Amino acid sequence: SVVVADTGDVDQIRRYQPTDVTTNPSLILKAANGGNSEAILRECVAAAKAQSPNDWQDDAIERVSVAFGVQLSKLVPGYVSTEVNARFSFDTEATVAAGKRLIQYYRDAGVDPERILIKVAGTWEGIEAARRLEADGIRCNVTLIFHAVQAAAAAKAGAFLISPFVGRIQDWYKQNGQLPDDPALDPGVQSVRGIWQMYRALGYDTVVMAASFRSVDQVLRLAGCDRLTISPALLAELDQNSQALTHRIDDGMNEQAAPAELAVDE
Ligand code: E4P
Repeated sequence: SVVVADTGDVDQIRRYQPTDVTTNPSLILKAANGGNSEAILRECVAAAKAQSPNDWQDDAIERVSVAFGVQLSKLVPGYVSTEVNARFSFDTEATVAAGKRLIQYYRDAGVDPERILIKVAGTWEGIEAARRLEADGIRCNVTLIFHAVQAAAAAKAGAFLISPFVGRIQDWYKQNGQLPDDPALDPGVQSVRGIWQMYRALGYDTVVMAASFRSVDQVLRLAGCDRLTISPALLAELDQNSQALTHRIDDGMNEQAAPAELAVDE
């Protein structure tokens, strides 16, 4: 698996030297609050106000995301994922427009747009936006994937990459008192594994990047997936656990997936 850091924190990226980075507005906000970023923030807000006096907040989120993305792109050799404002998740036009704006901001900053993945929601509207952005040569990371049906739709739309979530599925089962005690039956892990196996069986070439991890155990169970995006806290734990990582690195994806996740017909 290619290791991706799920953070906007420059120091953590320097420390763990991942291949790619994924961010979202909450991770960017966390990074912005944690570091010495006041000057960047002030500059982004001023630029946003100058360009869009009436709805500068949305524009500011995009500019701040890109300002951090630009820094992160200097620290990793691979892709930087930048998320479209979740407010646009059910609006294809707005998602396409936001994706194009983000790419333009990266271009203006001198970053090769080929290295940027635009994160769009795995809703019907978001997947339609991915189809249009990909047709325009803009690579997409379709996120918030909780089921094989979304994964199949994203692949058919030509998405470059999908982010199937582990932890949010686990959270739901936990909140509803339905989480199995046996970690081998973790429904989030089963969902991602099923999606990966479905893609292999149907010959889809969209990259599968497991996301939203809650534990090292989940990471190890999905080792062998194309990419794994992991928070700094879990990267630190993995660092101390490198023997287990070497042992399990290619094992995870061959275990049995939940049959329901494989029941998607071409
Ligand atoms: C990554 O691309 C996702 O934004 C991230 O893994 C989501 O994780 P969460 O479920 O902890 O918010």
